[in-house]
Amino acid sequence: MKVLEARFMRDFINMAQEGYEQGWHERNGGNLSYRIKPHEVEAIRDRLSDHHDWQPIGASVPDLAGEFFLVTGTGQFFRNVPIDPEVTLGIIEIDETGENYRIRWGYVEGGRPTSELPTHLLNHQVRKRVTNGKDRIIYHAHTTNIIALSFVLPLKDEVFTRELWEMATECPVVFPQGIGVVEWMVPGGREIGIVTSELMEKYSAVVWAMHGMFCSGSTFDETFGLMHTIEKAAEILCKVMMMGGRKRQTITPNNFRDLEKGFKITLDERFLYEKEDNGVIPGMED
Ligand code: 13P
Ligand code: ZN
Repeated sequence: MKVLEARFMRDFINMAQEGYEQGWHERNGGNLSYRIKPHEVEAIRDRLSDHHDWQPIGASVPDLAGEFFLVTGTGQFFRNVPIDPEVTLGIIEIDETGENYRIRWGYVEGGRPTSELPTHLLNHQVRKRVTNGKDRIIYHAHTTNIIALSFVLPLKDEVFTRELWEMATECPVVFPQGIGVVEWMVPGGREIGIVTSELMEKYSAVVWAMHGMFCSGSTFDETFGLMHTIEKAAEILCKVMMMGGRKRQTITPNNFRDLEKGFKITLDERFLYEKEDNGVIPGMED
């Protein structure tokens, strides 16, 4: 089968386009990776090249040994993914040690995988383990409203989770585990990847302060939907703040507990703390 005809390839390209249309991918902002299923690799195997050398990943991912990933290229614009997928995307294979990768398809103009490859692969390694192999997609986007909030909210998992949950009743249903926050760090390396992947042990979404967000999911729809839901909640919170930043009413801890019963979800009590004044958004006290 031609690589471009594979279903996962079409779904990947569609997701990149949808993300671009949301305004989350200015220039080369953001990156996307998919852990290809074994039968999908077999279907395209005779179209893969073995002319490329092994390169160091810059992180150690032994639990991903032998896996294949479809990954956006570094410096590539999401806008161009549907226009020229063979230039903007590539398929890489991880070696038996989990230390190196080689290009098997794509990046035809001499490109290479995203500079965030260490974070993507470290996240994949954790999510593969904690979801028993279900999660296959890691998505990084420069979501405008989440970035804006990272300038004003305290950079704490509890605060981001609680304030975003309050912005839409569906939020705790879509991300009941909450959301993690990484304070500002230099992107593009192993260090930020390790910090992020440690949070991915318990969360499927992690904010990078003053930068964007990472989401993990089992399907393209689930992963995009998670990013979209969180970013929409962030947009509502920004609007509430712009309307003076004082809530007259909100969803209370007991409302969330009722939701737990109704929707059969479990919400960590860590996020259901009492506030001195439910109308005040942290960071907007005066
Ligand atoms: P890449 O072009 O290397 O994917 O980097 C974009 C980005 O968003 C870095 O965080
Ligand atoms: Zn980025």
